[in-house]
Parts: sequence; C-alpha cells; structure tokens
Amino acid sequence: MKFFVDTADTGEIRRLAAMGLLDGVTTNPSLVAKTGRDFLDTVREICDVVAGPVSAEVAATDFETMLAEGRVLAALAPNVAVKVPLTPDGIRTCSALAAEGVTVNVTLCFSAAQALLAAKAGAAFVSPFVGRLDDIGMEGMALIRDIVDIYGQYPDIRTQVLAASIRSAQHAVQAAQAGADVATLPPAVIDQMFRHPLTDSGLERFVADWQSTGQRILRD
Ligand code: E4P
Repeated sequence: MKFFVDTADTGEIRRLAAMGLLDGVTTNPSLVAKTGRDFLDTVREICDVVAGPVSAEVAATDFETMLAEGRVLAALAPNVAVKVPLTPDGIRTCSALAAEGVTVNVTLCFSAAQALLAAKAGAAFVSPFVGRLDDIGMEGMALIRDIVDIYGQYPDIRTQVLAASIRSAQHAVQAAQAGADVATLPPAVIDQMFRHPLTDSGLERFVADWQSTGQRILRD
C-alpha cells in the first residue's frame, strides 16, 4: 500500500519525505485554508519535494470552470493529480481531463456506486472517505473493502483505491488489510503509527545496557 500524506503543510511534508515514507500527497481546500498560503505556490513547492502524485483540488463546481481550473493545476507540475468532486459535473470533468492525459483523483466518494462512476470516467484514483462515514454511524472501512472487491473483478479498471479521511493508525492497518492501493494519512496518524510502549521501554533498556559496557561504536 502506498502512503500519501494528507496535508498542505510543506514543513510536515518535508519532515515526512526525509524519512522516505511518502509516495504522494493529498490536499483539499480545507487543508489549504489552514496554511493561509497561496494555493498555486504551495502546490508547486509540494511537487518539488515529493516525486509522486500531488492532489490539488478544483474550487469550482460547474463543468466549464472545473475543466479550466483542472488544466491550470495540471500545468503546475507533471506530478499534479487534479482532484474533482464526485458529482455529475465532476465526473464529466474527470472524463475530459483523463482524455487529455491528466491524472485525476475523484474525491468525496461515499458509496460503491459512486466508485463505479469514477472508474468509468477514467479516474486514476478514487477517494472513499472512511472517517466521515464512521462519523455518521456507518463502517467506512466496509466501503474500502467493497470497492477493492468490485474493482478486482474487472482487470480493465485501472483506478486506484485511495483510502481517505483516515483518522488513526488502526484505520491505516485496516485499509492495508482491505487491499487499498493507497492510504492518505494525516501527519499525526503517521506519527501515531510509530508508537508502541514496548519499543520505548525496549530502547531505554538497550541504551542503559550499552552505556554499562563503556564502549563506543564511533571511534575517532
Ligand atoms: C483527502 O483526500 C481528503 O480530502 C481527506 O482525507 C479528508 O479527510 P477528513 O475527513 O479528515 O477531512
């Protein structure tokens, strides 16, 4: 499973990229708003840091404007994935951009039926939102399992399942178990994935025991 980071914070993206953990980045208008920065500059900067797909979302909701915005975003860097919402106009935009060779991520997917539409429209990625389904009392991860299962029955479907709205390390593990191609993870979730009390106590013991030997590995 590929790891994308779900943020527009370039400091966080640089920190995680330096660990070799990132296969791509997803942003959305809410994440961009949090930075207070210019959107196009931010996308350009992210694309310089991470070689994999960087999702940048259109702002309009009508076909003509989404198409024009998608072309602007796609021209920013070769690794931009244009994000469009799963609406009739968004799916039409996806078809048009995909026909032009643009990588498209169809976002705000909440059902298997919607995921079928995204695949049919030539989306490179479909983004089912796990956490937001959990928020309304549904099992978000069941949707990931359903889409992976359906897409798997049709070898001609190239659309990758990008598990989005991931809220915990457990979600990341479950997305991998479900066979998601990608999970987009907030930085805090990636940090959470490191944590285990036995790692901390084990390291503490190794450090103490090593110090008791009085030895050094690095010797002038
Ligand atoms: C990513 O592509 C999505 O926009 C994001 O994962 C949504 O996450 P949220 O539901 O936590 O806002």
